[in-house]
Amino acid sequence: MFRNSPTQVDPAHAAIAVQGMGNVGGTAAEIFYKNGQKVVAVSDYTGGLYCEDGLDIPAIRKFISEGNTLDKYETEGVSHVTNDGLITCKCDVLIPAALENQITEDNAGRIQAKLIIEAANGPTSVEADEILNSRGIIVYPDILSNAGGVVVSYFEWVQNIQNLTWDLDEVNKMLQKIMLTAFNEVYALSQEKNVTLRMAAYMVAIKRITTAGKLRGGPISMG
Ligand SMILES: NC(=O)c1ccc[n+]([C@@H]2O[C@H](COP(=O)([O-])OP(=O)(O)OC[C@H]3O[C@@H](n4cnc5c(N)ncnc54)[C@H](O)[C@@H]3O)[C@@H](O)[C@H]2O)c1
Repeated sequence: MFRNSPTQVDPAHAAIAVQGMGNVGGTAAEIFYKNGQKVVAVSDYTGGLYCEDGLDIPAIRKFISEGNTLDKYETEGVSHVTNDGLITCKCDVLIPAALENQITEDNAGRIQAKLIIEAANGPTSVEADEILNSRGIIVYPDILSNAGGVVVSYFEWVQNIQNLTWDLDEVNKMLQKIMLTAFNEVYALSQEKNVTLRMAAYMVAIKRITTAGKLRGGPISMG
């Protein structure tokens, strides 16, 4: 049964684990760090790092940018973990930001995070999703969580066709507004229908497609 209760995670004090330190994971970890949030674990394809008190993300990103892999990173207080160790580590928020199919029926039952934010595409298998739901672990689905890149691609298209140049602050402001509106719409529907955020995101998406099809006079109907 899906337990549709709000998560108890306090963003300001949450311990965050990020799988993948590439474009998505590395940037996310850096933003959390700059916001004063605690990133306790990160990983790349060679393995992960864990520190209960929080990792020095700028130092780790610099280390990676110099061509190093995380299996070679040595600093006092930081331990090495396997990929499985990262996914099941002690944390409040888990952010898979590397590959698809990382949260599976093998590890879903051992995940300690209360909240999973899918930054990668398809990181959770269907079977794992059911286990997470039955355990009351909230999952922010990929089509919602990682849509920011596509939104900003849309901004690029808008600027190009109108010969406009927006600065970073403007882009971030508009991006935040769109992402918050999308999240609130999905969250409200998940509460109303008592479904997961993933199901609610699909419901919102399908409704938008059918509405657009109808307005264009196409064959898609609202049913
Ligand atoms: N780049 C984007 O704009 C964007 C936008 C939305 C979604 N995504 C999705 O996010 C995910 C990551 O994309 P990216 O652009 O950051 O890729 P990337 O290649 O820049 O980074 C991938 C990271 O994952 C790590 N990795 C690879 N195999 C691993 C493993 N087995 N265990 C742990 N870490 C592993 C790599 O070492 C690297 O740090 C993909 O699923 C992608 O589809 C990317």
